[in-house]
Amino acid sequence: MGATRLRLLEGAPTTYEPLLSWVEEVAELTQPDRIHWVDGSEAEYRKLTDELVAAGTLTRLNPDLFPNSFAAFSDPADVARVEEQTFICSRNERDAGFTNNWMEPSEMKTKLKGLFSGSMRGRTMYVIPFVMGHLDAEDPKFGVEISDSAYVVASMRIMARIGTDVLKKIEETNAFFVPALHSVGAPLEPGQADVPWPCNPEKWIVHFPEERSIWSYGSGYGGNALLGKKCYALRIASVMARDEGWLAEHMLILKLTSPEKKVYNVAAAFPSACGKTNLALLDPTIEGWKVETLGDDITWMRFGKEGELRAVNPEAGLFGVAPGTGWGTNPNAMRAIAKGNSIFTNVALTDDGGVWWEGMTEEVPEHLTDWQGNEWTPEAGRPAAHPNSRFCTPIDQIDMLAPEYFAPNGVEVHAILFGGRRKTTIPLVTQSRTWANGIFMGATLSSETTAAAAGAVGVVRRDPMAMLPFIGYDAGDYLNHWVRLSAKGNAARLPKIFLVNWFRRTKDGGFAWPGFGDNSRVLKWAIERIEGAADAVETPIGFVPTPESLDLDGLDMTPEQVEEAVHFDADEWRAEVPGLEEWFARFGGSLPLSLTNELEGLKKRLG
Ligand code: GTP
Ligand code: MN
Ligand code: MN
Repeated sequence: MGATRLRLLEGAPTTYEPLLSWVEEVAELTQPDRIHWVDGSEAEYRKLTDELVAAGTLTRLNPDLFPNSFAAFSDPADVARVEEQTFICSRNERDAGFTNNWMEPSEMKTKLKGLFSGSMRGRTMYVIPFVMGHLDAEDPKFGVEISDSAYVVASMRIMARIGTDVLKKIEETNAFFVPALHSVGAPLEPGQADVPWPCNPEKWIVHFPEERSIWSYGSGYGGNALLGKKCYALRIASVMARDEGWLAEHMLILKLTSPEKKVYNVAAAFPSACGKTNLALLDPTIEGWKVETLGDDITWMRFGKEGELRAVNPEAGLFGVAPGTGWGTNPNAMRAIAKGNSIFTNVALTDDGGVWWEGMTEEVPEHLTDWQGNEWTPEAGRPAAHPNSRFCTPIDQIDMLAPEYFAPNGVEVHAILFGGRRKTTIPLVTQSRTWANGIFMGATLSSETTAAAAGAVGVVRRDPMAMLPFIGYDAGDYLNHWVRLSAKGNAARLPKIFLVNWFRRTKDGGFAWPGFGDNSRVLKWAIERIEGAADAVETPIGFVPTPESLDLDGLDMTPEQVEEAVHFDADEWRAEVPGLEEWFARFGGSLPLSLTNELEGLKKRLG
């Protein structure tokens, strides 16, 4: 076979045999025209983005508005994660559990090898060494993504620590790396012209948890193609975490400082497009409280030496939902974005070479080019940006980034919030009765579906700990891991758990709570509960605020309106119980007993 293989590997910047042999194997299978070893440099980024502009994949934005920034427009059939095509191929079907698609690993490998065979013909194969978390962490988590998409390389450079330093450390420490293979599945015949967004109608996002490997085919969209993010830092990492005794979670993490200068770190798990990035960059509307960002999507947690739960953000960038992110609702995100160095996907273009999306500014531009390249005016009757359009921005551009973001050991977590998008039933905030009751809140978390995943929008589904699409193994085992692992922590220092809902509606259909910056009022209440300073009403589901216990200073709401946001409704909860029972029944035997007991307790209290 030698000839092609040796020629393609000439000049490889490594002698690390495990990597070289994998790259060879993939090159033989996928038949790229050339191999590019990504060094992660500025010069390389400039060259790649220039090429992407020339190819029509990226549009360079007006540098006076968004310096060093680009817009990409995907194929209309490649705009979100594809959950029906996402697989966990454990050796035993039982280990994938009922929340995952499963196929026997060797059968899946055969299928994938067929698809990847020659899939990079006519293209460059990029080799991207990356690390999730800190390069100087005690046990750094390495990966190497092979991709035939330069858009993926440019985006990975924003989202993770990549390039030469990472490669060196892998070699020096003889480290394991997660092999993460990605192809858009659009080989080019000699002379065939490329399209701006190559992809394949057939998509497969596949994880082999025992092997700790990832194969992604057919899509260029972030969650499917930037393999360090959902595929590694959640699905594969959740399996590593189970085996090694830690937690990989779909959580933001923020640092809250009280007027007394006491620091509290709050982690929060909300399903996709339910407010993590917004809460992580929150601008408090109450005096004296300060929020700083640690992470906006993924949190890795482990117990420290004193049994305290510690958290780090394994990512280096934001991949945020654009619509609804605006100067009014999230000025901190807007300031980070406006510094440039960003890649936008499926947003609309303004006539002066900037970007726009629904909710960015109060004033709607007179004329835009929509995400599909069509002329757009406010009368168009359709959104200008795709509902799941995204901004991809380096995290260190956030002015309010907490210095502890850079600490490999992370921060202690004092509170955990679980939240979803529910029009009814779930009050604005409920403190769990106990730690076990808090795990029950997470295990039964529910939300109405959004545009972040392909499929119907607005359907209520259960989403345990906001991890439904991301648990890399059996969901009952996952909940058991939470229960068993937390038993090893220092009970006195376990975070307090709260269930929140920013999306409850009033009888008139509007939001019952203003949300965004005003969510600082809920954070304050949670902290005051931890300190034993705030009042609450004990209800069958936990402790909800008395309207007087929330800081409403400067908020234009009547006591009745506040009551509508915070109240517990026994009838709604009785109606909720069959759904909870049905949900738990789906786990078969793998559900922790403590959770079954929690449900029984709740039913008893509801009467
Ligand atoms: P992923 O990045 O997909 O995991 O989602 P996310 O959880 O980071 O969601 P994000 O913060 O981007 O919010 C998604 C949508 O929720 C946006 O349209 C926001 O405008 C909306 N949203 C966020 N916070 C609030 C809130 O407090 N109230 C209301 N009404 N909407 C909110
Ligand atoms: Mn997410
Ligand atoms: Mn987000």
